[in-house]
Amino acid sequence: MTPLNSPTANQVSLRVDAGGLSFNNPVLTASGTFGYGREFVGLTDLRAIGGLVTKGISPRPRFGNQRPRICETASGMLNSIGLENVGVEGFATEKLPFLRACGTKVLVNFFGTTFDEYIDCGARLGAMDGVDGLEMNVSCPNIKAGGIEFGTDPRVLGDLVRQCRAVIRKPLWIKLTPNTSDVVALARACADNGADGLSVINTITGMAIDARTRRPKIATIFGGLSGPAIKPIALRMVFQIRRAGVPIPISGIGGIQNGEDAVEFFLAGASTVQVGTQSFVDPAVSERIVSEVSQFCASEGISDVRELVGAMHPTA
Ligand SMILES: Cc1cc2nc3c(=O)[nH]c(=O)nc-3n(C[C@H](O)[C@H](O)[C@H](O)COP(=O)(O)O)c2cc1C
Repeated sequence: MTPLNSPTANQVSLRVDAGGLSFNNPVLTASGTFGYGREFVGLTDLRAIGGLVTKGISPRPRFGNQRPRICETASGMLNSIGLENVGVEGFATEKLPFLRACGTKVLVNFFGTTFDEYIDCGARLGAMDGVDGLEMNVSCPNIKAGGIEFGTDPRVLGDLVRQCRAVIRKPLWIKLTPNTSDVVALARACADNGADGLSVINTITGMAIDARTRRPKIATIFGGLSGPAIKPIALRMVFQIRRAGVPIPISGIGGIQNGEDAVEFFLAGASTVQVGTQSFVDPAVSERIVSEVSQFCASEGISDVRELVGAMHPTA
């Protein structure tokens, strides 16, 4: 039953300040699942979402991995796109003019294959007008360290964040890898070295085999698992980071399909959420999730979405 004096969905305040940015609402689209924004014009209203995170940008263009590089799995998908992107220059000339006028907050996801590439890429993107904030993807193989991801060792990660922070004046979020046994240590390393926010989580390494052909279903054998299958893991990691008192806001990512999924992430401790794989199923899903969150709040007598953040009851 709707509580007395409860707000209507239109009266619910969805505004959030998180990680150095002000958003009209807490629903963003996740990197690599929403192109560079323009691809979704005519499919959804970009001004209705809180923000978008671009495909990951590297210093130079990349063509990505061999095909097949996507396959469906139970409640999810595996991808090994290989971080195909237009590079910093291509981004500035081909993509940014549209994004400057797109009517929502723009975070640019970026990465490198060495420390110097990360620093160079972050500094150049951070200096561009129309880039509201940066999200650093640290789920990339560190060639020098034998191919392990940059983001799996708290000391290496802390060092990387500190050096990037020194050259980036815009809000800097770090997108954590879930391929770790101690996500809290990684989160602390980011906060201690000047990050403004955390995006939790990136894809989980997995594989799939075609039993008949006996071949891997994607060319690189391993890929990143995303979609509803990973939501419980993502929620657990958001909650662990929040419970440990890491003092920067979290953007929750992983398997979000509807408003209640988003609310679960807020309750676990996320201030914003990002919608990924589900945009492939329904390009307008993020816009719908914004309305569903308002409706949820109204039905619970909540006038401000921020009341939900970290508000999970500690017992089942
Ligand atoms: C096809 C595809 C491409 C992606 N590309 C990137 C990327 O360039 N950079 C990044 O940080 N994350 C990337 N991701 C990870 C997503 O942003 C997100 O963290 C992940 O898919 C989990 O969310 P979901 O379950 O809602 O999809 C990609 C995911 C998919 C499915």
